[in-house]
Amino acid sequence: MQKKINSWLITQIDKGTQTDYLELDSSEFLSNEIIIEVKNSALNYKDALAITGMAPIIRKFPLIPGIDLSGVVIQSKNKKFSEGDRVFTTGWGLGELQHGGLSSHASTDTDILIKLPNKYTHSYIMGLGTAGLTAMLAVLALHENSIKPDAGKVLVTGSSGSVGGIATKLLLKLGYEVVALTSRPEYNRDYLKSFGNIEVLDTNDFLGNPRMLSKERWAAAIDVVGGKVLENIITETKRSGVIFVCGQVLGLNLATNLAPFILRGVRLIGIDSAFCSHERRSRAWDMIFDLLDVKDVNNLSEIIDIKDVYERSKLIVNGKNRRRIITNNSN
Ligand SMILES: NC(=O)c1ccc[n+]([C@@H]2O[C@H](COP(=O)([O-])OP(=O)(O)OC[C@H]3O[C@@H](n4cnc5c(N)ncnc54)[C@H](OP(=O)(O)O)[C@@H]3O)[C@@H](O)[C@H]2O)c1
Repeated sequence: MQKKINSWLITQIDKGTQTDYLELDSSEFLSNEIIIEVKNSALNYKDALAITGMAPIIRKFPLIPGIDLSGVVIQSKNKKFSEGDRVFTTGWGLGELQHGGLSSHASTDTDILIKLPNKYTHSYIMGLGTAGLTAMLAVLALHENSIKPDAGKVLVTGSSGSVGGIATKLLLKLGYEVVALTSRPEYNRDYLKSFGNIEVLDTNDFLGNPRMLSKERWAAAIDVVGGKVLENIITETKRSGVIFVCGQVLGLNLATNLAPFILRGVRLIGIDSAFCSHERRSRAWDMIFDLLDVKDVNNLSEIIDIKDVYERSKLIVNGKNRRRIITNNSN
């Protein structure tokens, strides 16, 4: 095992944080059962918030950020994995409670690792990662809540981003009628229309103060934006419709009223991918592998050098990014 690793590291300074790309001593940062040479990681919204210090994501300092990682086992103290095994993981507090994947090497417990099927590359799985798992869990929940493709329009917010983009693509593959909401319709319309037959609407039209109940428009919605956008969606959801709440780009607060819930039976269901059970993950991964091939994932993602993570994080938190961002962690 080499003595030095190259990693992004977030440290606490005064009341804020500082993020640097550094050479670190492996003995200080690789102390769990399995050591992995990370081939690819990804830049999630939460990672970008942590890296830019825009929100208090990190619970323990100093910390290597990165919710997702995929790589090759180079040392194992557990017989479940051997040197040379190709593995990946998403969530489980990586980059938040424990060191994450934005590094040349990572060390994790055995029970959060999944063997990467031989036919998939590290970049394919990281093109999905936490975002893909979240989108698939939302679509799975849609199905479990009896929202069939003939139920009507399904609204997806933040549709040019990672969770929204993958959810849009999954729904189209399953035959749903999708309406994609984007805050930059001029920039994103052609990109979103390339996904298939969808309607594209402007997020800015969902920022006004909602009425108690509005005209019924959506059989379901997959929302990553929250805030005023979600407040408006709730009042426009059809009788017995369901909204799957995945993210909070506009913040955690929600001001709504009970009429949509008690007069229309609207349901609001939260999606958590980070600590979702092994059984449900496994089911979701099997479904996503069936639905999205390498070409789909390539269209939905972009690969950047790990050294460009800070600059890209600034674009993400300012709503100026498009597609899922995969990092190339090899030196
Ligand atoms: N529940 C979970 O387990 C889970 C898992 C992954 C992510 N998340 C959460 O889901 C959210 C999205 O994550 P992501 O990885 O998809 O991020 P992302 O790739 O950066 O996409 C977010 C999208 O939101 C839209 N957006 C950004 N700023 C906006 C603003 N000011 N107003 C309106 N729309 C804005 C943009 O899409 P348009 O340009 O198309 O508007 C952007 O592409 C985050 O809050 C993240 O923490 C939750």
